[in-house]
Amino acid sequence: MAFFEVIHVANQQEAASIVQEKLEQDLKANTLNVLGLATGSTMIPIYKNLVESSLDFSEVTAFNLDEYIGLAPTNVNSYAYFMQEHLFSRKQFKETNIPNGNAMDLDAECARYEKQLNEHPLDIQFLGVGENGHIAFNEPGTSFNSVTHVANLTDSTLGVNSQYFDDEEEIPHTAFTMGIASIMKAKKIILLAFGEKKRPAIDALLGDTISEEWPITVLKNHPHVTVITDIK
Ligand code: GLP
Repeated sequence: MAFFEVIHVANQQEAASIVQEKLEQDLKANTLNVLGLATGSTMIPIYKNLVESSLDFSEVTAFNLDEYIGLAPTNVNSYAYFMQEHLFSRKQFKETNIPNGNAMDLDAECARYEKQLNEHPLDIQFLGVGENGHIAFNEPGTSFNSVTHVANLTDSTLGVNSQYFDDEEEIPHTAFTMGIASIMKAKKIILLAFGEKKRPAIDALLGDTISEEWPITVLKNHPHVTVITDIK
């Protein structure tokens, strides 16, 4: 029997405490060696809480889900920069991994990242979700069999992301992303979703249909999922 729990929280602070407890349990049990991390505003209070906690990640290897193509780690909009700012500069990890947004050979970078993932099986993967149901940068229509690849971002995603860029011309239209199959290999998944804008995605996840048009629905095929949300 698969494990699928939905935890309703009143606010993001409560969600952050629950995440902390879950990580603490797995760290104590020695079952958290590789942690898959996500970016986005959803994750900011979660990371803030981890930074302030006494949890020790110095023996944990981290892998991020995705990165914009063409953005260097020094670019404030890169996910490498986000991770430095919110987590890595404040908590020590054994090793951190994120696709190289500056890679010249895109196919080689995808293959390198997928190989790294296969050599370090994910124990827990955090996920946020896009308004259109995308996970990482796996947009609607992405094959459930996909591994790390170059994704073309949809207008919906570009529109949401444009708020972070001063100049629209600077918004990357492509990104490296773990594929759906790469994500599904994680032993446990913790998905976080807050706010009304995520309701259609959460409704899809809790509904009956599993469809590549709503990438989030693939999680219904996963053996161990925790959804933490303020959407009732
Ligand atoms: C981007 C990321 C996703 C993230 C999503 C939602 O598209 N690639 O991994 O889940 O944004 O972001 P937010 O948490 O800001 O709503």
